[in-house]
Amino acid sequence: MASDKKEKLSGIKGMNDVLPQDAALWELFENTAQSVVQSYGFQQIRTPIVENTALFARAIGAVTDIVEKEMYSFTDSMNGDALTLRPEGTAGVVRSVIEHNLAYEGPKRLWYKGPMFRHERPQRGRYRQFHQFGCEAIGFTGPDIDAEIILMCRRLWDDLGLDNIRLEINSIGDASERAAHRAELIKYFEAHAEQLDEDAKRRLHSNPLRILDTKNPAMQELVNGAPKLLDFLGAESLAHFQGVQDILNRSNVQFTINPRLVRGLDYYNRTVFEWITEELGAQGTVCAGGRYDPLIESFGGKPTPGVGFAMGIERLIELMKVAGEPALPSQCDVYMVHQGSEAQTQAFILAERIRDAGLDVVLHCATPGGAGSFKSQMKKADASGAAFAVILGEDEIKNGTAVVKPLRDREAQQVAVAFDDVVEHVVDDIVGNDHDHDHVHYHH
Ligand code: HAM
Repeated sequence: MASDKKEKLSGIKGMNDVLPQDAALWELFENTAQSVVQSYGFQQIRTPIVENTALFARAIGAVTDIVEKEMYSFTDSMNGDALTLRPEGTAGVVRSVIEHNLAYEGPKRLWYKGPMFRHERPQRGRYRQFHQFGCEAIGFTGPDIDAEIILMCRRLWDDLGLDNIRLEINSIGDASERAAHRAELIKYFEAHAEQLDEDAKRRLHSNPLRILDTKNPAMQELVNGAPKLLDFLGAESLAHFQGVQDILNRSNVQFTINPRLVRGLDYYNRTVFEWITEELGAQGTVCAGGRYDPLIESFGGKPTPGVGFAMGIERLIELMKVAGEPALPSQCDVYMVHQGSEAQTQAFILAERIRDAGLDVVLHCATPGGAGSFKSQMKKADASGAAFAVILGEDEIKNGTAVVKPLRDREAQQVAVAFDDVVEHVVDDIVGNDHDHDHVHYHH
């Protein structure tokens, strides 16, 4: 290397590292979410991060923020294919379901998680690489499944100990109902053309429904007076929407109907919903979804209804931090402290035996500072969150024993235990004290 100055490497704006401390929180969230959706019979599906650009343009809609300006699209330099980093998960799941004829076997309850990419302006809760945990229920027609996935979300908030998330729902009807509403909407906005901002003018004839979603304060009054889609719904759509509300009411799920909830993706019909918190500032939607009955047929599949949602994992992690410091799993159950080469050999043997018994063990290893004094090793043992330090020094080697020192229970005494009894001693205590891990607890 020619240059003396070593340039510092940095990551890409809006794309974040998740460091070990936070990663433990992510794992807690993901494991809790996974166990909740599995308790409703959802099965995991994994699809690629890269898909053909055309898939997203067709699924999400050409005149949407995502497709117009937020996609990471590129040309495959090997063969000229137009590719895109997935901005969301539904399109890829639906593509996979059609490609593998999954829906022909019967209805499917699917879940997924992973990174999504949108070239948005980064701010708190809004990133260019972000992560979703999502579910898609494919092949179910009734309001029952819509209500079920909402109940599933509520169970997750309960298990995570999050009680500050509220639910908004709406029905956006079917295509012909939206067409009738759209005609009236365009008439209304045309009659007030002087009050439209640039975005609204551009969308007036391409996607007027999205004007209702405007964040521009100057347009709020105009939008409030606009014809409401709910007033254009026919009997079937209304009955479906009522069916969802009935189940939610009987299940004690609180919600408000927001007639202006229209969602930013074009594939939706009928039920749409968002879970929103006030604790995170402007980006307070932690979960959003709805029904997309026409999507599979529009991709050339057999007509098959669908409904689903996706959660923003970053936002939920933030919310968990707001709720307090969750009790996280420790790095290990046992930390092995040793001094001298005989003791090190014995520590390796004991550590493997304890792992054979199913526990997590961190064995102290040398660092650039050296092997570490007894005291500095004990500090590391404390910081690891282990329940026990198992300590081996010259005396222990002579006696054929190890010292087992409880680290969390300050009352408990350390004891010298024969090599052969260490595993049993440690396992009995840890397994005997295993607590209920069903719910996430917070320290305040
Ligand atoms: P979405 O509303 O675009 O829907 O995204 C769902 C959630 O992902 C949002 O509510 C938010 O929590 C999170 N999210 C979106 N963009 C960002 C970002 N730039 N940074 C951080 N978090 C973000 C969908 O993606 C649909 N596929 C949901 C769905 C599934 N509908 C039916 N099935």
